[in-house]
Amino acid sequence: MGTTLGLDVGVLRRAIQQEYEDVAVCPAKGFHFHTGRLLAERLGYPAEEIDAVPAGSLESFAGVGNPFIFGHLRPGETVLDVGSGAGFDSLIAARQVGPAGRVIGVDMTDAMLEKARDGARATGLDNVEFRKGLVEELPLDDASVDVVISNGVINLCPDKEAVLREIARVLRPGGRLQIADIVVQKAVPQAAKEQIDLWTG
Ligand SMILES: C[S@@+](CC[C@H](N)C(=O)[O-])C[C@H]1O[C@@H](n2cnc3c(N)ncnc32)[C@H](O)[C@@H]1O
Repeated sequence: MGTTLGLDVGVLRRAIQQEYEDVAVCPAKGFHFHTGRLLAERLGYPAEEIDAVPAGSLESFAGVGNPFIFGHLRPGETVLDVGSGAGFDSLIAARQVGPAGRVIGVDMTDAMLEKARDGARATGLDNVEFRKGLVEELPLDDASVDVVISNGVINLCPDKEAVLREIARVLRPGGRLQIADIVVQKAVPQAAKEQIDLWTG
């Protein structure tokens, strides 16, 4: 599979999976980005929300912002976490929407999904589930969620239009999008787009 970016999307995805498998399995290894509790504190998550997340999901948190600063989720809402990683935001969302609500996390990296599912079991929350899939081909029905959250994922996807199309497809009319991600203000040079380590780092 190729793209006009001049790199093979399959090769890029495998490199990204390898990087985030490391974040799941060896969170203390040290990365070119911040992770874990210190990151969550720095991003302004309240201590009581951080404390309620099991250690495994917290140590592999690798977001770039805080999607909840745009507003708390409402009881009873159905929420999709696009690129849910080890489940940190999904588990916070599951508490916010309560037992009448539902959270679905989607991620492509098995080790992250395993940690997220372990985290959900450890909290005893039964209104959250994690599905394996690509965010460019979301494993959800049309118009099936009230809110989409995402944290640090779309910057890793070369076809951002495909991701946004999928998000628009699964959101109900009037649904909300609460995303934290990296935004560039200048066009990224072609040579940089073709360097996989710049995507994963
Ligand atoms: C920077 S981490 C962020 C994880 C989580 N949102 C958090 O805040 O901790 C990026 C996550 O996106 C997932 N990911 C990247 N590209 C993806 C894609 N095309 N489809 C599904 N998941 C993807 C990776 O597996 C990884 O778990």
